[in-house]
Amino acid sequence: MTVLITGGAGYIGSHTVLALLEAGHEVVVLDNLVNASRESLRRVERLTERTLIFVEGDIRDRTLLDQLFSEHAVSAVIHFAGLKAVGESVQQPLSYYENNVAGTLVLCQAMQAAGVTRLVFSSSATVYGDGHPMPLHEGLPTGEPTNPYGRSKLIVEELLRDLADSDSAWSIVLLRYFNPVGAHASGQIGEDPRGIPNNLLPYVAQVAVGRRDCLAIFGSDYSTHDGTGVRDYIHVMDLAEGHLCALHALAERQGVHIWNLGTGQGHSVLEVVKAFEQASGQAVPYRIEPRRPDDVAACWADACLAERELGWKAWRSLAEMMADTWRWQHNNPDGYR
Ligand code: NAD
Ligand code: UD1
Repeated sequence: MTVLITGGAGYIGSHTVLALLEAGHEVVVLDNLVNASRESLRRVERLTERTLIFVEGDIRDRTLLDQLFSEHAVSAVIHFAGLKAVGESVQQPLSYYENNVAGTLVLCQAMQAAGVTRLVFSSSATVYGDGHPMPLHEGLPTGEPTNPYGRSKLIVEELLRDLADSDSAWSIVLLRYFNPVGAHASGQIGEDPRGIPNNLLPYVAQVAVGRRDCLAIFGSDYSTHDGTGVRDYIHVMDLAEGHLCALHALAERQGVHIWNLGTGQGHSVLEVVKAFEQASGQAVPYRIEPRRPDDVAACWADACLAERELGWKAWRSLAEMMADTWRWQHNNPDGYR
């Protein structure tokens, strides 16, 4: 089938494009390259020995979307496009609501006009908010995300529920990601953040490769086994394969379906640093700093529902996540540049 992948040049998108091409699907990517490089998709084409269609453009551009749907027989859309930096979203909320919320609205309007009613949306564990006991399962009520980025994800989830309620033709999957890390095992594609990385793994990898001096660990006084924050890190290829399973599930289901994509296991910051040092053979110097505002102590998934309903399970280990991150960073110390 032909699948439109918005944001397909980005980190998770490029790995998912690769998984779809390998599974024999045709892929059209729409990306405005605001946080990605065209090079990621050239490498995906080389790795898979397949070609894809790339459209450089914006999900907010209705005319472009109408043209795209008229030119390509798209059966389903996987929607990654959006902005994702939590701190930036506090500084520039309008930009986040415009790209993430208004962008999704325009995309859905164009899909509706074109009669394309299958959608997989990139949501986040952040929609659960704070205060639930771990692990987080899909039956829990959503909470109150603490920043505009998180709120934009929650608003889009609600928008998509309303849409599916209004018309039974729609089948929509909300995938709530935990903490995607790692890279394709080839070391050819991976995460390439612009500027100073916000997330743990890219920062650790840049310290190891010599681009930064020292990791700041945000807090060592949490009520976790070693005092540092605990998260559910999931290999980006496991995540990509989860999208493939969700795509197949869409064909048999109507309405909205929610699945967590996580491993079900939490690891602390110190455990991650140690695992990375072991995998890379590089030292990762760190210092302890105060807690980052709004960080939770611990967050991990109950990943049973996806296993039961999709037959999908994350199987790659923390060691593999670290080894693959390092291979990517070591081979590409400056990312795609
Ligand atoms: P990314 O920034 O690498 O990818 C997003 C892509 O969307 C980029 O290629 C960017 O150029 C493109 N884009 C942004 N705005 C656009 C617009 N208006 N029109 C067209 N293209 C646009 O991020 P990622 O880590 O691959 O995340 C993909 C999705 O998953 C995002 O929606 C993100 O919010 C969500 N998510 C990511 C994480 C994570 O930790 N990486 C966790 C939970 C959810
Ligand atoms: C962050 C976002 C969240 C988003 C998720 C995935 C915040 C507050 N939350 O979550 O909304 O869905 O990324 O993109 O930004 N850490 C350090 N030093 C660092 C970076 C991180 O110690 O330089 C620690 C954090 O305190 C945390 C863990 O590492 O305990 C993971 O952090 P991060 O990778 O930013 O992910 P989240 O906090 O889960």
